[in-house]
Amino acid sequence: MKKKILIAGNWKMNGKKGDFTFINSLKEFLSKNSLKDIDVLICPPYTLIDRFSKLTSRSSLNIGAQDCSTKESGAYTGEISSSMISDLNANYCIVGHSERRIYQNETNKIINDKIVKVQNQRLNVILCVGETLAERKKSNTLKVLGNQIKGALKNNVKPNYLDIAYEPVWAIGTGLVPDNSDIELVHNFIFKKLSKLYGGRAKNIRILYGGSVNPKNVSTIISLNNVSGALIGGASLKIKDMKAILKQLI
Ligand code: PGA
Repeated sequence: MKKKILIAGNWKMNGKKGDFTFINSLKEFLSKNSLKDIDVLICPPYTLIDRFSKLTSRSSLNIGAQDCSTKESGAYTGEISSSMISDLNANYCIVGHSERRIYQNETNKIINDKIVKVQNQRLNVILCVGETLAERKKSNTLKVLGNQIKGALKNNVKPNYLDIAYEPVWAIGTGLVPDNSDIELVHNFIFKKLSKLYGGRAKNIRILYGGSVNPKNVSTIISLNNVSGALIGGASLKIKDMKAILKQLI
């Protein structure tokens, strides 16, 4: 069966309760347009997941979280577990976003623990990987990505309930995007790594691109070899841009 494309919005620390109009508008757009080969996902802050899940319960719009704890439950003030996310009827969870690696010092070991917890709840993981500008300048991109993938996917990580997002750190929120040939090179590399780990089952893992995706560049990016979706930050906050992105792909 052909893999569906995944178009995922990462709202980061943005959004307020009034944004139900955004969700209703996107829901309506999805019901009016035939998007049978595209999964659409919005990952708002935790505080909006319950409200958004209820609004989308009978629609094709998916709701996810941006992170979760490495722990199941207990004395971990401020943490949110994967089972709590599952309780809210979300069905995806982003793990290892570069902003968490940088600001919260998340290591590949922590990311691996989180992935296992998310998969235990049968939630889909979107594992983010990507190199910094300094690493790219030293021609270390593939080495960095190889280590991130190896570290994050060890110990009990299953190929089902798994998608990967390649997000070059220097492309996030900057308007800069790698050349098409660079995106393809990296996505082919990631696919090869996944094939080594999971054999034929690697084909079911979507490899998304993320970093300054917008309505103008999305269709070219999605057409590249081994690119099966996009993780979108800034442009996913505006309903006009989200619809414009999806229209490019119908
Ligand atoms: P951006 O963010 O689309 O604003 O570059 C992407 C991301 O961080 O997931």
